[in-house]
Amino acid sequence: MAAPVEAYRPHDARMRVLIVGGGGREHALAWKLTQDQPSIEIVAAPGNPGLATLGRCVAVSSDDLPGIVALAISEKPNLVVIGPEAPLAAGLADALRTVGIPVFGPSRGAARIESSKAFAKALMREAGVPTARAIRCIDAPAAKRAAREFGAPVVIKASGLAAGKGVIVCSTIAEADAAIDSMLRDDTFGAAGREVLVEEFMEGEELSLFAITDGTTVLPMLAAQDHKRLLDGDLGPNTGGMGAYAPVSLSSSALVDDAVERVFVPTLAALNAAGAPFSGLLYAGLMLTAQGPKVVEFNCRFGDPETEAILPLLEGSLLEPLLAVANGSGLSDEPLQWSPGFSVTTVVVASGYPESPQKGAVISLPPREANIHVFHAGTAFNEGGGLVTTGGRVFAVTAVAPTLAEAQRESARVAGAIEFEGKQLRRDIGWRELERSAGATRD
Ligand code: AMP
Ligand code: GLY
Repeated sequence: MAAPVEAYRPHDARMRVLIVGGGGREHALAWKLTQDQPSIEIVAAPGNPGLATLGRCVAVSSDDLPGIVALAISEKPNLVVIGPEAPLAAGLADALRTVGIPVFGPSRGAARIESSKAFAKALMREAGVPTARAIRCIDAPAAKRAAREFGAPVVIKASGLAAGKGVIVCSTIAEADAAIDSMLRDDTFGAAGREVLVEEFMEGEELSLFAITDGTTVLPMLAAQDHKRLLDGDLGPNTGGMGAYAPVSLSSSALVDDAVERVFVPTLAALNAAGAPFSGLLYAGLMLTAQGPKVVEFNCRFGDPETEAILPLLEGSLLEPLLAVANGSGLSDEPLQWSPGFSVTTVVVASGYPESPQKGAVISLPPREANIHVFHAGTAFNEGGGLVTTGGRVFAVTAVAPTLAEAQRESARVAGAIEFEGKQLRRDIGWRELERSAGATRD
């Protein structure tokens, strides 16, 4: 029998939070936690130069599970928040819980809601959650037959984690055949693409709806809309996300209530019944179809860049619900409170993004301004201590303003004032919403 685990005791009275990750999402999470409790001590692994202005960064990769666990054991935080999906899918939350450390993020089993699209689809089907029809295939001829069954357009999805690149929307059967061959014959996505979903094409606007949950209580956040295409007008190649805004007027309180009842609650119940209770942040990508909202995908963590748009509008505490979930002390069902403004996040990306982002470009930042948040996503210090680019998405610039039009203008203005060679950005984040209601104000 294993020796009993000694009761875990956080280091001392001052609140210490370990943030796992080093992107814009993690910078925004740390910023909000610091707003909630100014005396908080933030430790980030690996962090980034933005996070370094809020706390201490420790050079441990978010994928180094033993390294993160060892860091947590020595830092004794009151809370660990895991940002990215890969460590969750690999079981980081389980490893931390085993040694008694309070963690916000689902177990490896529950993270399958994101790490296996085949698992998520089967779960949704059993639970009666509205979603596109799909056929799971592991060989190319069967997948091609399935694609013909649905007819074009059709969507081919690698079941596993593929860094946002595993979904191919095909407008012809020939494209579907090529996508199927790339996954099931040529192994382009490795293990992630050896099981695929051939999925019915859905039409409609997409929403990202996040909920903080302990597995039973569901606290929905403000809906946001992501912008995945590189260029203005939603043109150009798909990216990890060029911007987001919140709130989205399509997301009425009736729609959110409906999504909680028909999507979140049955999905959480099904995960529980499958022996994989979920706690953490459940992210539903919803498509608003003519037949009502349907799930496009689930993610098991905060979305990026939506988090950078949503958190600056959160008036109440983020720390409290995260702690309640991590400690299992009972999540209050009191709705989250939001400020009556609009938020637009413009992502500034590197030259060559998304195919081959250039690293090492020297960055010059404009002076800080009120109501503007410059979240670091892909930055680092070079040997001389200068700030340089190190990833595709370099900054997420969020402006909060009384109108969406103003938030868009301000966000694009400050994003435009960040200088480095070859930078790219969109200036139209929120355009669909502006078309819906020019210069709208919230009631
Ligand atoms: P995912 O990674 O599953 O969010 O998919 C990436 C993008 O592909 C989504 O945001 C949608 O725009 C698109 N997509 C995924 N599934 C479908 C579908 N069944 N019908 C239409 N578009 C889809
Ligand atoms: N915004 C999309 C994602 O976080 O996966």
